[in-house]
Amino acid sequence: MIRIGITGCAGRMGRMLMAETAGSEGVTLAGGVVRAGNSAEGQDLGVLAGIEPCGVTATTDIAALFDTVDVVIDFTTPGATVDHAGHAADRGKALVIGTTGLDPAQEQALRRAAETAPIVFAANMSLGVNLLLGLTRKVAAALDADFDIEIVETHHRHKVDAPSGTALALGKAAAAGRGVALDAVAQRARDGHTGARRRGDIGFAVLRGGDVVGDHSVVFAGTGERIELTHRAGDRRIYSRGAVRAAVWAAGRAPGLYGMSDVLGL
Ligand SMILES: NC(=O)c1ccc[n+]([C@@H]2O[C@H](COP(=O)([O-])OP(=O)(O)OC[C@H]3O[C@@H](n4cnc5c(N)ncnc54)[C@H](OP(=O)(O)O)[C@@H]3O)[C@@H](O)[C@H]2O)c1
Repeated sequence: MIRIGITGCAGRMGRMLMAETAGSEGVTLAGGVVRAGNSAEGQDLGVLAGIEPCGVTATTDIAALFDTVDVVIDFTTPGATVDHAGHAADRGKALVIGTTGLDPAQEQALRRAAETAPIVFAANMSLGVNLLLGLTRKVAAALDADFDIEIVETHHRHKVDAPSGTALALGKAAAAGRGVALDAVAQRARDGHTGARRRGDIGFAVLRGGDVVGDHSVVFAGTGERIELTHRAGDRRIYSRGAVRAAVWAAGRAPGLYGMSDVLGL
């Protein structure tokens, strides 16, 4: 039995991750941590997850969580994630990170932590999106800059970062297919008199509203024809299922920074 711990376990994804862990074979829900001051402290993890009580309660002791489990799954906030990666690095414990919106310095901190701990870090844990990443790279490699690449994403009204981590990952995949760096070609916002589109740019457009789980489209717009690759997430379970799969894969593995393509063998 692989013992899994969940951070941010009172959050939207935290609760789903606990239910997924409790319902999966070969793993056990061994602990959960909430931010100090969160009213869920002391509550049974099963009750928090909306399933039957499991006899383990939510604490605020992150060090104890890392000491007692084989792998931690973290869908929290960038600052908390960097802190949790430090705990993983100190102990060589596996960590699966789904948090998005990390800045370059925070991503660098994860790379450092991955020198002593196995870390899976993916902006999107779903099988479908990871296939979309591969397809995007292939199509971008097959077409030249006569095809303008635009990435459109829609998420629920509570999402705090934009463009989504998945949209940026799709941008990176498209840029890699073209053999360029995303930073050199990304157009992250357009407003006012922007002038004509620059050849080779990769544009992003962001919609926020309602309870949309997550839609992503990559548009390759040529002259007289257009290719659109789209993924629509209908259920957040696709993320928690992928995360638990990643946790099983990562537990006890050699240190390194891994992605879902490693986990899924794509
Ligand atoms: N990779 C993927 O497939 C994927 C899929 C969906 C979402 N995400 C990402 O996952 C993250 C969480 O999303 P969500 O919708 O679950 O957000 P959420 O409902 O706001 O949950 C985040 C949780 O993290 C907790 N937290 C913050 N700092 C903490 C700390 N230091 N220690 C412990 N817990 C802490 C928050 O607690 P408080 O409420 O007490 O502040 C909150 O419960 C976001 O970055 C989102 O973009 C990724």
